[in-house]
Amino acid sequence: MADQLIAALGGYGAVGSTAVRRLAEQGCTHIRVGGRNPARGLALRSEIPNLEVSYVDIDNPVSLKEFCSGADLVLNCAGPSYRILDAVARAASAAGAHYVDVAGDVPARRALGTTTFTDRAAVFSAGLMPGLTGLLPRLVATAGDRVEIHVGGAVRVTPASAADILLANGPDFGESLAAWRGGTVIPRALTPLRRVELPGFPEPVDAMPFLPTESTRLAAELDLAELRFYTVYASEAIPSALAMAWADDPEFQADHVKPLIRAATSDLRGRDPYYSLTAHVLTDTGQPSSVALHTADPYQLSGVVAALTAVAALSGKIRPGVHFADEVLDPRSTADALRHDPLVQALTIHAATGSSADHIAHHEINNGNRCG
Ligand SMILES: NC(=O)c1ccc[n+]([C@@H]2O[C@H](COP(=O)([O-])OP(=O)(O)OC[C@H]3O[C@@H](n4cnc5c(N)ncnc54)[C@H](OP(=O)(O)O)[C@@H]3O)[C@@H](O)[C@H]2O)c1
Repeated sequence: MADQLIAALGGYGAVGSTAVRRLAEQGCTHIRVGGRNPARGLALRSEIPNLEVSYVDIDNPVSLKEFCSGADLVLNCAGPSYRILDAVARAASAAGAHYVDVAGDVPARRALGTTTFTDRAAVFSAGLMPGLTGLLPRLVATAGDRVEIHVGGAVRVTPASAADILLANGPDFGESLAAWRGGTVIPRALTPLRRVELPGFPEPVDAMPFLPTESTRLAAELDLAELRFYTVYASEAIPSALAMAWADDPEFQADHVKPLIRAATSDLRGRDPYYSLTAHVLTDTGQPSSVALHTADPYQLSGVVAALTAVAALSGKIRPGVHFADEVLDPRSTADALRHDPLVQALTIHAATGSSADHIAHHEINNGNRCG
């Protein structure tokens, strides 16, 4: 497998550069990175010998075809993802490669359909959110449970991510104020929480109810009794910027990229960056089962998840077809790999004795995920 070629589009961006570093660390010796500014890729070559650097523009089908040519796996870390949709996946399919996308999510998967990747794997949403937000709760939640998830903090927002956040408005992405209860999505079930103290967050925060489509799928699959999901903000700056953007004509969304980046930057004044993902199984008695992940950089951590997904696909651990990452990654071995990653400040799992989560909480597991 060490000889297999991984073509990483956007491989020198915030997410992509970490994915490429981790792939190299895991023994992948043949990596091609590309984008419209190869000089940025060349900077990575000082860290990663033998890195191949190419020019590629997703909007230029000839350069995209050339970039994917000969690849065993195409890793897409370029954005904005909701503009790229299935363009890179289709080029990967035509090249006979596996495909991993750090985002894409429902719009890209729907655009791709089911007629491609019949003998290869394509995996969307291989990042933190979505991605780990659908995967880590599986360590502690089982049928009939009531689960509450909190995710967010105070971190930078990159230009590609800002564009995606602004485009992520509508039923493909989720529903504000909704919760999953009794087998269905209940609209307007929850209200925003202002200046609340939440376990795992270092200061009082604002928590906005938003039920992502990923969580609806998770709740249905696990047959949960209830799932509440809150996006967490250090201040009102980002929710206010988003409210302004979404009240505007969709044609002018691009004008709101800079204000959104500025809002995130303002949250970082006087604070160190922090980002947490917590999932609690609610109980009326005793200590609830829970999982909590803490990092200072969700972008880089998304690159770690993308790299783990790529290695799993190349190792034949992901069956052919089109998937979301949380459906096909193994929660235990992924958690164990994350726990050993320096970008994870802490990953704690508390679970009732004898449960699946209790096993990972108390045993060292060798996940065996290597590229060679
Ligand atoms: N699932 C998750 O949790 C998660 C977390 C963070 C980010 N994301 C997603 O990951 C994607 C990347 O985010 P990021 O923060 O890494 O962004 P970034 O730092 O701005 O990097 C974007 C990369 O895409 C490349 N790119 C953009 N347009 C291109 C084009 N037309 N042709 C070729 N390359 C192109 C850029 O290179 P050039 O501009 O030089 O071409 C750059 O390398 C975004 O879609 C974001 O929404 C997902």
